[in-house]
Amino acid sequence: MASDISKKTGTNQSPLAASTASQSNALWGGRFAGGPSDIMQRINASIEIDQALFRQDIAGSRAHCTMLVACGILHEADGAAILAGLDQVENEIARGEMRFDPALEDIHMHVEHRLKEIIGEAAGRLHTARSRNDQVATDFKLWTRETLDRLDQDLAAFQTVLLDRAEEHSATLMPGFTHLQSAQPVTFGHHLMAYYEMIRRDRGRLGDCRARLNECPLGSAALAGTSFPIDRSMTAEALGFDRPTANSLDAVSDRDFALEMMAALNLAAMHLSRLAEELVIWTSAGFGFVRLSDSFSTGSSIMPQKRNPDAAELVRAKLGRVNGAYQSLLMVMKGLPLAYSKDMQEDKAPVFDAVEAFTLSLAAMTGMVGDLNVVEDRMKAAAGAAYATATDLADWLVRAAGLPFRDAHHITGRVVFYAEKKGVALEDLSLDELRAVDARITADVLDVLGVEASVASRTSFGGTAPVRVRAAIDLARRALAADKE
Ligand code: ARG
Repeated sequence: MASDISKKTGTNQSPLAASTASQSNALWGGRFAGGPSDIMQRINASIEIDQALFRQDIAGSRAHCTMLVACGILHEADGAAILAGLDQVENEIARGEMRFDPALEDIHMHVEHRLKEIIGEAAGRLHTARSRNDQVATDFKLWTRETLDRLDQDLAAFQTVLLDRAEEHSATLMPGFTHLQSAQPVTFGHHLMAYYEMIRRDRGRLGDCRARLNECPLGSAALAGTSFPIDRSMTAEALGFDRPTANSLDAVSDRDFALEMMAALNLAAMHLSRLAEELVIWTSAGFGFVRLSDSFSTGSSIMPQKRNPDAAELVRAKLGRVNGAYQSLLMVMKGLPLAYSKDMQEDKAPVFDAVEAFTLSLAAMTGMVGDLNVVEDRMKAAAGAAYATATDLADWLVRAAGLPFRDAHHITGRVVFYAEKKGVALEDLSLDELRAVDARITADVLDVLGVEASVASRTSFGGTAPVRVRAAIDLARRALAADKE
């Protein structure tokens, strides 16, 4: 459909575009003698983008028409004709039969124009007590609301995958990092559950956005409301809004809802980019913690041995688009005087693009996490390397020998120094060697120096001990199930 348009916007105009251009515009041309220039038409048209809103536009028109009849503003017969005509227009667009034409500017005009062809003059009565300004605000809100609901489902599906993999790996050992330096051993399940938490907050933010968004602009008309005795609560309810918006000027010029969604998506895309980066690191030869499945790996055309994590790299990059869209819309809205200005027509393209990019990123991440292979022995070996249990020795000195943590830290530092010089792990040192550093060390210290023991001991709330991780997964599963009810 979109490519159709670009063909028509060149010098090769369709016969219809040419004829409309030479006359004044049928929808607002009453006071114009001549028509807009070709360039004017091209810069003014938004149909290439907003045709995506045809269902929302027609839903809004149905609600408006039904309300006009109920309020005695529109004859029942006209109302019935309009509703039947709208069904036909919707079916035609859904089947791809509508011929989009930049001379008709946008989706609102296309629907009305086609309605008039189908039912005749009565079509013109639909626009009583409304304007394209409240129409487009309503359409875009409806689209954003549907998008928020769909994204919430997609994010919940990703959470389920994280939970499944976390459960499988609730006791799989891996190094935990700070500064990307091996710090303390953790479990892979615990690491995945960290992302579960991020996504939980993302869903919360999108949910907040949905709750704030859910007021209906329809009936605000061009900017000031209308002199017709309309019932705004009726249209609000018919379209699933909680209530009508309270101020007509605000309603037609507000795009906070789209900005808020983009802001929340920025954080969600940032979270995906962090996990994507970890996948890139983990799949590298130096780490070798993870192997992506064939379905999410790519080869190199020149180096036959390569397995590249292209999907992860692309997910890492997509935040650029999402953030670009947020910035773009924010700049469109910056400094706009009340109420509607045509600048606002530039609102949809970046948002549509970013939502599409985010949706694909999320699907790719869900797929990658769902079937990645964990190379458990590599992870475990790395978990024990680099003296990752040194904190456990220090903690033991505090617990068993009653030392202040700072002293324990110092003694442990000397033990590590000795082991490093000898080129062995802490757990490979003999008791005599340990006691040579500090005589207060006794045999039971050997229980805490292993990686398993280290991880198993971290049972504090939110900690990495497998029992804790399993409890966290359990809670999360219950919360997810409750969401669905
Ligand atoms: N296509 C327009 C948009 O997306 C619809 C609103 C036009 N309103 C107007 N007063 N020209 O913003």
